[in-house]
Amino acid sequence: MSSYDLVIIGGGPGGYNCAIRAGQLGLNTAIVEKRGKLGGTCLNVGCIPSKALLHASEYYEAARKTFPAMGVNFTNLSVDLARMQNQKEDAVDGLTKGVEFLMKKNKVDYIKGEGKIVAPGRVQVGSQTLETKNIVIATGSVPAELKGVDFDEERIVSSTGGLALSKIPGKLIVIGAGYIGLELGSVWRRLGAEVTVVEFLDRITPTMDGEISNHFHRILKKQGMLFELGQKVTGVEKTRNSLKVTIEPAQGGQGRVLEADIVLVSIGRKPYTQGLGLEGVGVRLDQRGFIETDHFQTNVAGVYAIGDCTPGPMLAHKAEEEGAAVAQIIAGQWGHVNYDVIPGVVYTYPEAAGVGKTEEELKAAGIAYKVGKFNFAANSRARTNHETEGMVKILEDEKTKRVIGAHMIGVGVGEMIGEICVAMEFGASAEDIARTCHAHPTMTEAIREAAKGVDGWTMQA
Ligand code: FAD
Ligand code: NAI
Repeated sequence: MSSYDLVIIGGGPGGYNCAIRAGQLGLNTAIVEKRGKLGGTCLNVGCIPSKALLHASEYYEAARKTFPAMGVNFTNLSVDLARMQNQKEDAVDGLTKGVEFLMKKNKVDYIKGEGKIVAPGRVQVGSQTLETKNIVIATGSVPAELKGVDFDEERIVSSTGGLALSKIPGKLIVIGAGYIGLELGSVWRRLGAEVTVVEFLDRITPTMDGEISNHFHRILKKQGMLFELGQKVTGVEKTRNSLKVTIEPAQGGQGRVLEADIVLVSIGRKPYTQGLGLEGVGVRLDQRGFIETDHFQTNVAGVYAIGDCTPGPMLAHKAEEEGAAVAQIIAGQWGHVNYDVIPGVVYTYPEAAGVGKTEEELKAAGIAYKVGKFNFAANSRARTNHETEGMVKILEDEKTKRVIGAHMIGVGVGEMIGEICVAMEFGASAEDIARTCHAHPTMTEAIREAAKGVDGWTMQA
């Protein structure tokens, strides 16, 4: 029997960051992963492969549509999908091996197999029993299914199948206009598919600031993505040559049939805790199946949980933050996650990004706020780059004079949102940002101008 200070179950961003920090702090640590590779959903079938395909397909569309306007012409432009998929796999392989190396570097034992908690302080992996002072559950999440629309991962796919298509679909129907639907829908549309997104609600990206979400919807429609908002899928019939997708208004009414080669179901993800033995040790779940925690501690002493299997945004960097924080707590140090400053980015073209409160949330909470906005159409770098679509919006709490939210859509805003995160962590006001010198000409000047707008001194006409 092996004996540890800490055994982590799950080798995704939550688990591996926890392991690295625990190793650095001198805890005798093991990480258990059943996938055969470290990196979890994010590195293997999530963030990384999706961004590799988004980047490659974005280049293809730019070469077709944007480059000619700048005098760069191509002849015989084509897509080699097998090669595009290979470069995606290369990115995944490189990064998962990198995580394995980091385990060795930080003296963390990597144990391959399915972990089961057989008692507090005891984890079974196959025939091996690990004895440990602490357990961190970081088992992540899996795609939610739509009743009656079962994944076969060939024609009816989750994000995993949707990332691995070996042929560009003629017609793709995406169910759910959230992160995955819009990112993967964009990939296949750029490569030539006709993409129709069916969304239950009457707007896309429901958690995003409403104004940015509307702007986003307009841009995606202009790019040729088709939308069926306020519609629900009631069934998918498989015929030899196509899929017949029946949709009807969300509130009920006359149904219609849409045809597709591929259906991507992206209606959210659900926590994954199957086979972990939680019932046996009495770890409490909430009504939606997430592990209940208080500062990462479950209701069972010595058993902690982090990342997608716990409530909160299902994002790699949220899991990462929690991983590092819980390792510090277990090592007897201070560990904290600021849930008010967790950015969200949709990596489409252009990107949409946000952090903190949306206008809708502020109104619902009755918090008085001031808003400053700036459109990229008036930003000089955006003009030279032919990337003028989008805007930046900054929200400041009227009472505390602190920035409490920022929402953007535009090229590169996924990088730019980092500036706001730092500002919010330091308790900045909009004026602090407005008085900070930003390089010219850069897209980030739009942030400065939006910040000036909070106090009414922006340059925008
Ligand atoms: P996971 O990454 O899900 O890792 C959990 C691991 O635990 C898995 O590898 C699983 O095999 C293992 N496991 C489960 N049970 C056991 C067991 N009993 N024993 C051993 N091992 C077990 N987030 C972002 O922030 N940015 C993005 O761009 C982004 N893009 C995404 C794109 C897609 C297509 C998808 C599906 C997700 C994306 N996400 C993104 C979300 C992100 O992947 C997750 O939020 C993140 O992976 C959660 O990390 P985690 O460590 O909690 O869990
Ligand atoms: P999501 O929660 O982002 O979006 C799901 C969408 O489906 C919502 O708009 C919802 O209203 C809609 N929906 C739900 N049920 C429906 C139904 N029956 N019919 C039609 N529409 C329905 O979920 P998604 O896109 O599956 O992604 C899961 C999670 O993975 C995200 O919430 C995010 O946390 C993470 N992710 C993050 C990415 C990023 O950070 N860039 C990229 C991809 C995923």
